[in-house]
Amino acid sequence: MDISSAPPAPTITHRGDYLPPEWLVPEVSLDFALGLESTVVKAALQVRRNGASPTIRLKGDALKAEAVTVDGVPTNAWRMDDGDLLVDLPGEAHEIGIETRIAPAANTQLMGLYASNGMLCTQCEAEGFRRITFFPDRPDVLSTYRVRMSGDKALFPVLLANGNCTARGEGESGAHWAEWHDPWPKPSYLFALVAGDLVANHDTFTTCSGRTVDLNIWVREGDQDRTGHAMQALKHSMKWDEETFGREYDLDLFNVVAVSDFNMGAMENKGLNVFNTRYILADPDTATDADYDGIESVVAHEYFHNWSGNRVTCRDWFQLSLKEGFTVLRDQLFSQDMGSAAVKRIEDVRVLRAAQFPEDSGPLAHPIRPDSYQEISNFYTATVYNKGAEVIRMMRTLVGPERFRAGCDLYFARHDGEAATCEDFVKAIEDGAGIDLAQFRLWYAQAGTPKVTAHLDHEDNVATLTLRQDVPATPGQAEKQPMVIPLQLALFDS
Ligand code: SER
Ligand code: ZN
Repeated sequence: MDISSAPPAPTITHRGDYLPPEWLVPEVSLDFALGLESTVVKAALQVRRNGASPTIRLKGDALKAEAVTVDGVPTNAWRMDDGDLLVDLPGEAHEIGIETRIAPAANTQLMGLYASNGMLCTQCEAEGFRRITFFPDRPDVLSTYRVRMSGDKALFPVLLANGNCTARGEGESGAHWAEWHDPWPKPSYLFALVAGDLVANHDTFTTCSGRTVDLNIWVREGDQDRTGHAMQALKHSMKWDEETFGREYDLDLFNVVAVSDFNMGAMENKGLNVFNTRYILADPDTATDADYDGIESVVAHEYFHNWSGNRVTCRDWFQLSLKEGFTVLRDQLFSQDMGSAAVKRIEDVRVLRAAQFPEDSGPLAHPIRPDSYQEISNFYTATVYNKGAEVIRMMRTLVGPERFRAGCDLYFARHDGEAATCEDFVKAIEDGAGIDLAQFRLWYAQAGTPKVTAHLDHEDNVATLTLRQDVPATPGQAEKQPMVIPLQLALFDS
């Protein structure tokens, strides 16, 4: 092989290399001049020094900086490095202004801002925000966002972003604009914007403290009649999370948008969830029971992320199961309560066996908290999601629902507004539920499906159960230790 033509060695990110961000970004303002072919983004980042570096690295993916200012003054103290924008900053706190021009209609990756069927929408998890503007695009940089967008009113009659709409008005030659403010600090992966010709199924929900929340499910004209089940699921989810986990919704508005081109099932952007239409639209003539159940659980899943994911987010992407494993468990418990608990449990175990067991015994086996990655989008796996949910379910089984709830309450109280780790979660369950999980933590580090062999002996009215556990070798993990598995047992007479 000719070395000179070999592709560059892939960059591997290691969990152990984590360092806190050099610069924080407490506030972000974004101004979008919207167009399907071309959108101009003006970003203003309030940055604050958090380390020793005099240079801020703003991640970029296929972006070009058209203009850069520091504290409102055009500057040349910037350079490009491997697609990123590096800006030299003399002081402790500055405002960086950056103008970029992006091409939504040409964005076929469906990451960042893209066009779908004449509308504009975003997908930023995990690393899509850097395709919109230059930014320290990592989940432990939390910012409050102000968004202004303007565009052609006929093309984009509805303009949505995270949080609450604070102002709107008419512009020149058929344009209009809207301003949005999200008061809750969030990582860039939860940013969202939608602009298009949409209609809403509108309803309200009154929270446990008596606040009225406006609910909208936005779809194409003609699809409103197919949103009833999703709206019911949303209202049931909001009530269930109050009753079961003590979690109340925290904005006056909750928007859901169904789009036809979407990479994932759905996305939990703060106050503006975006869904693949298949998880919103259903009508009795064509939808199956499984379709209805899928809608209910995905609507619940994204809503539950408002606390497990958004209010408490991940420090880095190695912690993905912190939000995904926990939120899958929460949506599973919700569906168990909405229908038949036994049937739901059988279905979830079937999914685990069909999708996760093969992953865990194959060449791509990885622990629920991986140690390294080349490309984080490849880690949205059945292991991180479904095995992650089973691991947290085992903690719940070990301590029972009441003590588990006490542990979860402590987790939310300790880490609200923070970017946390899987270890933070286990520690909160340990402290809040009063249990030692030292050995149990191996579940986060070891891959592979343990095999448990059970042998029951009866003699002189004594039953003896002997258990043996084998954890198979997986790539990179030859030697394994046995792991704690709670076991429920019942003996029946004749
Ligand atoms: N964060 C998204 C979800 O799991 C990605 O699909 O809900
Ligand atoms: Zn999720």
